[in-house]
Amino acid sequence: MAVITDQLPEKYHKAMLGWQEKHFKDFPYLLEHWQEFYKQSPFQLVAKLGDLKSEVIEVGAHAGKPKFQRASEMDEEMRAQMLKIIRAQASTELGSVQQHRESLHKAQDPKIQFDVLRVMAEEFRHGYQMIYLLAKDDWGGTRDVAADTIDELLSMETGSHVLEAFNVYFDSFVDNIVFAALIDRVGKYQLTMQSVSAYAPMARSMGPMLVEESFHLATGVNPLRRWVAEATAGHGNVSVPNIQRHINKWLPRGLEMFGSERGGRTNLEFGFKDMLNKEAQERYYQEVKEQVIDVLNYEILKVRLPGITKKEAIALADEVLATGESKRGIKPEDLIYLPAMNFYRRRGIHAFEMNDVRGQPIRSYDEYVRHLRTVLPEAYVTGRDFSTYLENLRRHQGGEVVDEGPLPFYG
Ligand SMILES: [Fe+2]
Ligand SMILES: [Fe+2]
Repeated sequence: MAVITDQLPEKYHKAMLGWQEKHFKDFPYLLEHWQEFYKQSPFQLVAKLGDLKSEVIEVGAHAGKPKFQRASEMDEEMRAQMLKIIRAQASTELGSVQQHRESLHKAQDPKIQFDVLRVMAEEFRHGYQMIYLLAKDDWGGTRDVAADTIDELLSMETGSHVLEAFNVYFDSFVDNIVFAALIDRVGKYQLTMQSVSAYAPMARSMGPMLVEESFHLATGVNPLRRWVAEATAGHGNVSVPNIQRHINKWLPRGLEMFGSERGGRTNLEFGFKDMLNKEAQERYYQEVKEQVIDVLNYEILKVRLPGITKKEAIALADEVLATGESKRGIKPEDLIYLPAMNFYRRRGIHAFEMNDVRGQPIRSYDEYVRHLRTVLPEAYVTGRDFSTYLENLRRHQGGEVVDEGPLPFYG
């Protein structure tokens, strides 16, 4: 992939550094210590544009026509939608930096901590990339949308983000890691779907971002593998049930980031994405099973049953979890499970249903809340996001239509 790098015009570049000074004070540390951790050339705050895989629009109503090089070539509705996508993406990228910041200092291992710091810097670059798309084009009207967006981002704190998952606070370093394994994976889907974008500068942005995204996924999955192996061997400080509770906290939010299960048609028609929400969500769910759950159970079972193959390990874990019975000395609670698709949802077709982690309905409100308290992290259920959920659940049950803020742009 040939990659061209470029910087924002000075005024915007400076404004982004202003954001960094306010919200990402650890950034200079990354640049100073990069060589101690990596051999690759150091991080640079630049926009990166990769090749355009297809010169013509790949999906939707305009399929076969040349891609739009400039925003002005799109009709007003498409331009407004693309602007919305770019601004929401800028917001989530920078939002994740603010979330990681909450508990970065709680890490025990300096290398894992530095990897997360690098993830944060790359998310900052992704935000920069989106601002670059805004600044380099004419979005119609008299507003300077790039400057407006930066201004908005400057004043944005966790709690005021477009996407609900970015309003959930991090309570411990386990959050940083599980977030990278699960939520960055949604990002990967998002970027992959957008690599077909009919708006050429967006399509060209996705390749370099996806390269970085694979590092983010590894930053999540590798420490989890190590932690479950250590815990199973009887040492280490992060237990298997603790990791499970964090998976239960984040997976439902990840599923909702794909948007309503009935939606996605507009973006498909405009040629901005190549999958409907539901299809992308289902593929993501399956990938979490294979790339996270199966991988962790293999690590656990390698410690318990030395010499076991990956295939055997997955089959054994699936059976123990499905039957709830021990086999070869392995109990369900020794393993990591995939929470059900309909568990702890507050958006989409399963919003405010009362289901347990296995997907079975729970009739009584009190019993349901007791269940949630045992399967979600303790620090999380004592926090604001959980109390908001309970309030909204009550309102929903009282017949009110509860809409938790604007719908994710993934929709
Ligand atoms: Fe990102
Ligand atoms: Fe990421």
